Amino acid sequence: MAKDPVRVLVTGAAGQIGYALVPMIARGVMLGPDQPVILHMLDIPPAAESLNGVKMELVDAAFPLLKGVVATTDVVEACNGVNIAVMVGGFPRKEGMERKDVMSKNVAIYKSQASALEQYAAKNCKVLVVANPANTNALILKEFAPSIPEKNITCLTRLDHNRALGQISERLNVQVSDVKNAIIWGNHSSTQYPDVSHATVKTPSGEKPVRQLVSDDDWLKGEFITTVQQRGAAIIKARKLSSALSAASAACDHIHDWVLGTPEGTWVSMGVYSDGSYNVPAGLIYSYPVTCRDGEWTIVQGLSIDEFSRKKLDATAEELAEEKALAYSCLS
Ligand code: NAD
Ligand code: LMR
Repeated sequence: MAKDPVRVLVTGAAGQIGYALVPMIARGVMLGPDQPVILHMLDIPPAAESLNGVKMELVDAAFPLLKGVVATTDVVEACNGVNIAVMVGGFPRKEGMERKDVMSKNVAIYKSQASALEQYAAKNCKVLVVANPANTNALILKEFAPSIPEKNITCLTRLDHNRALGQISERLNVQVSDVKNAIIWGNHSSTQYPDVSHATVKTPSGEKPVRQLVSDDDWLKGEFITTVQQRGAAIIKARKLSSALSAASAACDHIHDWVLGTPEGTWVSMGVYSDGSYNVPAGLIYSYPVTCRDGEWTIVQGLSIDEFSRKKLDATAEELAEEKALAYSCLS
């Protein structure tokens, strides 16, 4: 029997990530090839015409799984009955703006959209925040949507996770699909800690630790980390625009694995509400290694953390605590 359609909200849908993301969702990349979807696309009034153009293209693409499109600038209409919300819309940093100015714009947006999701989304709606500062926007959303279970509010660090897999695959000249269990700890920012201490590569003679295959520890502790941390900036420099296709693809991976589960023996990175695991302060949205099953994520426990890693986990937590304080100061 055909499945009921799932309603997926994409905010900022007229933007560049939105334009890459909505066809992926409509093709089944996010929820699987047998899952019909209804797309809810939200943007702001100046982007209404462009949003309508995206809707026209979705109709023209005749996606078999796409059972309806809501394209609107009305946040209530956009949030109504949605099962999954991918929050891409936000205020970008413009020339001459201070960090606090950008934060205050985004805090206001995420506060009001949190209330709309809380009132109008389906019960148990799963939320993924992509827009930067992604972890802190997600935290604000959590604060202002208290009836949405905190486990349902996450942010995107899967792009960084995939970037880490990509760097290892290039270095070792192996298929990216043979590399697994990298970890992104902390913030989706340049303080994030891409960690391959527990990552492995599938080889003809079995799974081998990345640390054994990459003999150059200096590279792993130096250039590898900075390349992943700075990859977003490198893309902006090269494209004059921030990453879009890889961000959209990672958003699909994030929701796909959250809803449909991670493969046995594999974890992925997700920004989730910290419960104090790995001595990270509770109450931050912090990226952890997680496994997913039956629509729920669980932080992978018991991984050994050496002194080098400890410092990096703490530094990115510190930045998140500062961002949290800044965000709260914008609310008062
Ligand atoms: P973009 O500027 O092309 O698109 C953003 C869209 O959001 C625009 O269409 C804009 O009109 C819309 N928007 C603004 N305020 C809105 C509001 N209140 N409600 C609904 N829509 C609103 O930007 P983009 O390149 O698509 O990137 C979107 C965001 O994702 C940025 O914040 C970017 O920094 C972030 N990003 C995050 C990651 C990640 O891995 N977490 C990766 C890449 C980009
Ligand atoms: C990315 O990681 O590509 C983006 O978050 C960069 C940015 O600042 O938009």
